Amino acid sequence: MAGLYAHPNYYEIAFDFRDVAAEVDFFETCIDRFGERSHRASSVLEIACGPSPYLLEFDARGYEYAGLDNSSEMISHSIEKAREHDIEATFLRRDMADFSLPRRVDFAFCALSSLYLGSNDALLSHLDSVADSLTPGSLYCIDGSIDFCGGTSSESEWESTRGDTTVRFGIDREPVNPAEQLVRQTITTRVETPDGTRRFREAHTIKTFAPQEFRMIAEDSEFEHVGWFDSFDLSKPVEECEPGTLHRPVTVLRRK
Ligand SMILES: C[S@@+](CC[C@H](N)C(=O)[O-])C[C@H]1O[C@@H](n2cnc3c(N)ncnc32)[C@H](O)[C@@H]1O
Repeated sequence: MAGLYAHPNYYEIAFDFRDVAAEVDFFETCIDRFGERSHRASSVLEIACGPSPYLLEFDARGYEYAGLDNSSEMISHSIEKAREHDIEATFLRRDMADFSLPRRVDFAFCALSSLYLGSNDALLSHLDSVADSLTPGSLYCIDGSIDFCGGTSSESEWESTRGDTTVRFGIDREPVNPAEQLVRQTITTRVETPDGTRRFREAHTIKTFAPQEFRMIAEDSEFEHVGWFDSFDLSKPVEECEPGTLHRPVTVLRRK
């Protein structure tokens, strides 16, 4: 049975909780503070864009938007969203581990713990692809995905309603290979509409990246590590946060 990533409309309901404008404010503050570019950033790439939740906000602020995802349903949904809002954007159905863009962009980001990579080699290849897609001095921000908690199991569940559709979303992560740092992530979704109940389930095995391991790999590629900040807030560097209190740590890298 296809999982939630094949159902962009339900995905959008489940992930409705974000303050996208505030997150884009954070990205722009990072670009101003840490970017080392000769011109104003005017184009962005969202990696694992899903239904492109940031498209409208970046477009309203004058950026050209490109989205990359390996799900044909998510890409079709994003193309339709851009068309509905009369936005010229680029969408690419690609694997994040190895891709190239037709034109370089001035900012890249990956939201909601979406680094789906299976090994350190895949991470290196991903970072090389992102570096080749970015103008020098530009930033790459990664929301989540770094294992600050150290390979522990986790579970969360929530419910969100839009109109007469309620989506109950659950995600749990279980270590399956401690030596390889592999975790099995299982996503379960229950959708209730007046026509009945549907259930989806999907599981992915992904590699976790410990913070210093990630930093070493990133610095072995074309990036410098600028810092990591919790909850889209530059006043909360992860180094100063209480262990166990992190919510959504964002890693900021700069293309050399
Ligand atoms: C949690 S969603 C994030 C979507 C969006 N960035 C957001 O903030 O809502 C993860 C996305 O990653 C995509 N994905 C998973 N593995 C991928 C891969 N190897 N390459 C590209 N996209 C991938 C899925 O199709 C899904 O749309």
